[in-house]
Amino acid sequence: MEKSVTSRKAARKTVFFCQNCGTEYPKWSGQCGECGAWNTLVEGMAAPKARGRAAPGLVAPSSAVQRLDQVAEEDTARIPTGLSELDRVLGGGIVPGAVILIGGDPGIGKSTLLLQALAALEGRLDTLYVTGEESLTQVSLRARRLGLPRLDLPVLAETMLETILDTLVRTKPGFVVLDSIQTLYTDTLEAAPGSVSQLRECTAQLVRYAKASGCAIVLVGHVTKEGAIAGPRVLEHMVDTVLYFEHDVGSRYRIVRAVKNRFGAVNELGVFAMTDGGLREVSNPSALFLSRHEQPVPGSVITVTRQGSRPLLVEVQVLVDASQAGNPRRVALGLEGNRLAMLLAVLHRHAGIALSDQDVFANVVGGMRIQETAADLPLLLAALSSFRGRPVPHDMVVFGEVGLAGEIRPVQNGEERLVEAAKHGFKRAIVPEANRPRRTVKLDMEVFAVPRLDQALLHI
Ligand code: TYD
Ligand code: MG
Repeated sequence: MEKSVTSRKAARKTVFFCQNCGTEYPKWSGQCGECGAWNTLVEGMAAPKARGRAAPGLVAPSSAVQRLDQVAEEDTARIPTGLSELDRVLGGGIVPGAVILIGGDPGIGKSTLLLQALAALEGRLDTLYVTGEESLTQVSLRARRLGLPRLDLPVLAETMLETILDTLVRTKPGFVVLDSIQTLYTDTLEAAPGSVSQLRECTAQLVRYAKASGCAIVLVGHVTKEGAIAGPRVLEHMVDTVLYFEHDVGSRYRIVRAVKNRFGAVNELGVFAMTDGGLREVSNPSALFLSRHEQPVPGSVITVTRQGSRPLLVEVQVLVDASQAGNPRRVALGLEGNRLAMLLAVLHRHAGIALSDQDVFANVVGGMRIQETAADLPLLLAALSSFRGRPVPHDMVVFGEVGLAGEIRPVQNGEERLVEAAKHGFKRAIVPEANRPRRTVKLDMEVFAVPRLDQALLHI
């Protein structure tokens, strides 16, 4: 591959990398200036200087300036994997030449999912599964346990990048899974496998191969809290698509979320359930994140959030309790902590309800993470409901952004959210005034459209 390896090696010097974000420093320090993480800097070799070769991720075989409209439209036909929830997060399927990074905690089901995808793809696309973590026996055992429709999948147990690339050049598969990127190493670097420099160099070479050959590559990366191995975050900028596996501790549901996608929408969710027979797709996850109390309970409010292109019903829970310490606690799980503090201030100023001597714990049921402002109003109503000890009716959904002036601001796709809630039997809704459904929309539910926070409180 690279000829001038030895000459480069001599010129290379030691640098320090942050294992969290990958920033490079000439000197060690206790805290990373870029991401603020403590004790994440490790010593490594500086990456070899690029000499006249394309930067990772760039494909520019022609150096002539062209007009955008004259650039030949490449055939970007997507190849569906056969797992529709995975296809959803990928934006419709696999794009030839794309490099996809799948991150997640160890044991969450990354290898299982990809093995299932390979089996589903086999026959339509030449595939290869490269395992660096497990032996071929282990992979074969898992495949049998999964009851895969096909067991004639090509597999390779190898960790040296040069050998893997040689195999790829010889066998020319259209879809390759590398499990995991942290076990790979290239001969051109002295650093240990799993170090930031190895991770980056291996990925850069694989990206170059993918772009040149049109082979789609999936890199599996373990998220590491802290420790010797660098996490997948340092590779995010080099690849086309980044998917993260999330789950609630103890829950069998697994959520795959697209956090970056050059070929599709981000924040798209795929939902799976881990079963004895591997990961099963949950194609209608809408009501998965509700805890279905027998009786309405204080502190629980159902909201409709949008994740990617679909609405999901989720339950926001808040516990308000008299604080024992002088400094009351504000804890938010699955929601943004700063936003919680801000909303409580709005509740105080615009509704006259002070929680300054109360601990406030907020949680989204089922390990779901809400990143949109539509959860503001349900969060406040749940807090108030817990504080007063009075339940919100359990056939009611709430959504809306709360502004600092106490106004309830509209959210996107309001009608679609209401339709979803009505579909699941909800009979009442509190929504922003601007999201009042049009007359033409037939909804079997009572909708209270409110312009301000104090008016919203009148309805519960
Ligand atoms: P795995 O795919 O090996 O995780 P990763 O590659 O992300 O580290 O998944 C391992 C977990 O999945 C393990 O804890 C057992 C569980 N599992 C099942 O529950 N059912 C199954 O059919 C399989 C194959 C695994
Ligand atoms: Mg694995």
